[in-house]
Amino acid sequence: MTTIIRGGTIVNADRAFRGDVLCFGDKIVAVGEQLDAPANATVVDAGGQYVMPGGIDTHTHMQLPFMGTVTADDFFTGTAAGLAGGTTTIMDFVIPDPKQSLLEAYRTWRGWARKSAGDYTFHVAVTWWDQSVHAEMGTLVREHGVNSFKHFMAYKNAIMADDETLVNSFRRALELGAIPTVHAENGELVYQLQQELLARGITGAKAHPLSRPPEVEAEAANRAIAIANVLGTPVYIVHVSCAESLEAIARARAKGQRVYGEALAGHLVIDDSVYASPDEDFARGHVMSPPFRSPHHQQALWQGLRGGNLHTTATDHCTFCAEQKAAGKDNFTRIPNGCGGVEERMAVVWDAGVNSGTLTPSEFVRVTSTNAAQIFNMYPRKGVIAVGADADLVVWDPNGTRTISAKTQFAKGGFNVFEGRTVRGIPTHTIAAGKLVFERGELRAEEGAGRHIDRPAFTTQST
Ligand code: URP
Ligand code: ZN
Ligand code: ZN
Ligand code: ZN
Repeated sequence: MTTIIRGGTIVNADRAFRGDVLCFGDKIVAVGEQLDAPANATVVDAGGQYVMPGGIDTHTHMQLPFMGTVTADDFFTGTAAGLAGGTTTIMDFVIPDPKQSLLEAYRTWRGWARKSAGDYTFHVAVTWWDQSVHAEMGTLVREHGVNSFKHFMAYKNAIMADDETLVNSFRRALELGAIPTVHAENGELVYQLQQELLARGITGAKAHPLSRPPEVEAEAANRAIAIANVLGTPVYIVHVSCAESLEAIARARAKGQRVYGEALAGHLVIDDSVYASPDEDFARGHVMSPPFRSPHHQQALWQGLRGGNLHTTATDHCTFCAEQKAAGKDNFTRIPNGCGGVEERMAVVWDAGVNSGTLTPSEFVRVTSTNAAQIFNMYPRKGVIAVGADADLVVWDPNGTRTISAKTQFAKGGFNVFEGRTVRGIPTHTIAAGKLVFERGELRAEEGAGRHIDRPAFTTQST
């Protein structure tokens, strides 16, 4: 199986140049000008277009059992939607119940993910602590290609990790050469603010952001960063949504601490006015945590991405349909938290980031693919167009436009937080593991074609 992508501008994080990309099997085998290709090769004409490394979404939840229901997208529909948007690898989360074996949960998620159409890899959540967790973290790193562990500092009485768990798990991650990641929100504060709002009769979706103000996120971000500093571990903060969390990251990095931050496409372009909508279905459709913030915070996130204090873009793709969201119609704390985006991330970040002049095409590649591959140890298999890398590519038409709508999306759930947004800059072709899986609106996703990507531990000694 040979594919040649001819005549495009190849964009890597370090430079952009004209050339062809030749793929054989699942790998890139040549990059250069006017390459020879066998007569039977599939030819993709990339004239006037960019050719970029396939996107890596560092944060998705396919088929997640959460808040009494299961997300609308499973690993097939979710990864297929990603391919349609130019994302060829997702990083999803194994989330064990408190007291559940990490390995048992890991096997369950691996089973669910077998139907994936695109490549996938897992962060494993540490939701509780004892010596068996300590041991199983070791097994996951040494035998199962896991090198990142997730900690939810929110969701009290469910999956929240307390400080005992955080400190023990961060310490263990360091020993193993794995990176700790956190959902930074103070779960106790969220819980108490929720109870106060309900007691005052404020029960609709508009209460959701009131229960999770920026300070609640910033407290947890600062705490996680301080713990990481004391223990000497790196730390990665998922879905940074506010200026105050970003300031915590910037401060720590300025002092030489290894802290990474992730921005969600949704947080970059959607503001908190959505919660004021009189259409409760619409407002509930936007309930996710952390919530959408005011434009002041959005501007800060763009500055963070450009200035290098935020490193990756993701979606937290976690779709629920209107009936599922309606479980919280009389009590906002029961609205399943989560929104989609895996299909739209690349186009939304390009349109709002590159078209506005905030990001260059190479910076776009850095924050949609390369940094993710480097931070989570998939580089240079992923995140770069180079000989020997996986043939995961997106051919990008900077002049193509599309109006995003739930009516035309591949993802499930029947709702789209980017509804009605017209983006300029869209994928025309997606090549995943050497196969042309998306071509000008036509999706040829194949159930089970995705592969689990092992991510080895980092070398921990800096001698
Ligand atoms: O609201 C969200 N983000 N739902 C998914 C779980 C999480 O917190 O990432
Ligand atoms: Zn989260
Ligand atoms: Zn999440
Ligand atoms: Zn439904």
